[in-house]
Amino acid sequence: MPEKVILVVDGQEMELPIVTGTEGEQAVDITQLRNRTGLTTYDPSFGNTSACKSTITFIDGEKGILRYRGIPIEEFTEAPNFVEVAWLLIFGRLPKRDDLAQFRDQLTANELLHEGLRHQFQHIPVEAPPMAILSAMLSNMACFYPGFLSLDDSDTFTEAAARLISKVRTIAAFSYRRSLGLPIIYPDPNLRYCANLLHMIFSIPYQQHVVTPEIEDALNLIFILHADHEQNCSAATVRTVGSSHANLFASCAAGVSALWGPLHGGANVEVLQMLERIHQGGMSAADCIAAAKARDKKFRLYGFGHRVYKNYDPRAKLLKQACDRVFATVDRSDPLLDIARKLEELALKDSYFVDRNLYPNVDFYSGILLRAMGIPTNMFTVCFAIGRLPGWIAQWKEQHDDADSRITRPRQVYVGPPCTAYVPIADR
Ligand code: ACO
Repeated sequence: MPEKVILVVDGQEMELPIVTGTEGEQAVDITQLRNRTGLTTYDPSFGNTSACKSTITFIDGEKGILRYRGIPIEEFTEAPNFVEVAWLLIFGRLPKRDDLAQFRDQLTANELLHEGLRHQFQHIPVEAPPMAILSAMLSNMACFYPGFLSLDDSDTFTEAAARLISKVRTIAAFSYRRSLGLPIIYPDPNLRYCANLLHMIFSIPYQQHVVTPEIEDALNLIFILHADHEQNCSAATVRTVGSSHANLFASCAAGVSALWGPLHGGANVEVLQMLERIHQGGMSAADCIAAAKARDKKFRLYGFGHRVYKNYDPRAKLLKQACDRVFATVDRSDPLLDIARKLEELALKDSYFVDRNLYPNVDFYSGILLRAMGIPTNMFTVCFAIGRLPGWIAQWKEQHDDADSRITRPRQVYVGPPCTAYVPIADR
């Protein structure tokens, strides 16, 4: 393993230190590069840039490893408990019984929306995309809780985190009910986190939706597998916004916006639409593979490929297994699951995908699993956001507590026109 890197600039040697992580991964420290040489680095989309040191999540993309605070994600699958994992991610250790009980109480105490916030749903068009609603409502929380804009005190931070994690599911459920013109269902303080969300989505007045343990476990698992993924697009966005000392609500709202895109969390919707198209005869699985390989690159095999994983995404593996379990309990099958399996089989035999290390990612099976639980397609990315929120909060806190953190401000290589004289409008 190299201990240092020597850069030669105009015949002058500059020694660049190496930063080594817990698992042996190494990064060249270039923080003094521009000061000493006038040079910057060119790394569009930051594919080679470690933007921070972090203790939250470890990924080995080559080996398909994902760990939260050192614990392999497979270990959370036996008795999946999203609230416990959320606490682990945010506070850095597994919670003791009292920690968990206290945090659960805070979630319950915060499950209702401020009436002012709830009234806003009436002014949102029925067909509004749920991710737009979610981003707007999280941002709006800053209007209703001004006492939580500065989070230097740890109790205030914990309360703000609990408010976000609790209210996000109420906002999600209310936006779904509004999209169907159904009466909203208030949260039930006697229900656990995931069961409460399913209750708010599916119950009707005077008829409580019955949540089976299998479905509750599956939703806990989905949320856990989405809970953090180190410096992905949305987490990096949350950190960027938070680096200006913007508040937690604004930073997480920005995370929702970043997640919305089809190359990120929005891919789970694209996957379902693609599978539905195949099912309805619009194209065959083979057509889909051929389109994804076409030179014009107009179409992607959604749910495949990943910036970091060059092996099977461990989350996709666990979700695929969960699909089998859930379909066994709901006692029905889904033709889309068969199509997904077929697509996966075709892709993993195809040299285009093999050569580029393109494997199923988390979005490939998550939509089918959510669908098996009755969750409508327009709520898939919202469910991703609910799961990812503890990760965003953990990333925001880590940066906030980091004495070395500075405002995020990349450089650029200017390639526009050289100095040009202004021409008055009459002379143009
Ligand atoms: N279908 C077809 N070709 C693909 C796919 C895909 N899903 N993914 C990557 N490729 C190809 C690219 O066209 C490129 O080919 P080339 O070398 O011939 O130019 C090569 O594989 C490398 O791909 P990049 O786009 O450079 O990979 P990058 O790391 O920038 O992108 C991404 C990763 C955005 C996830 C990409 O794989 C993709 O678009 N996948 C589909 C969308 C998706 O599923 N997103 C969810 C990701 S998981 C998450 O965010 C939660």
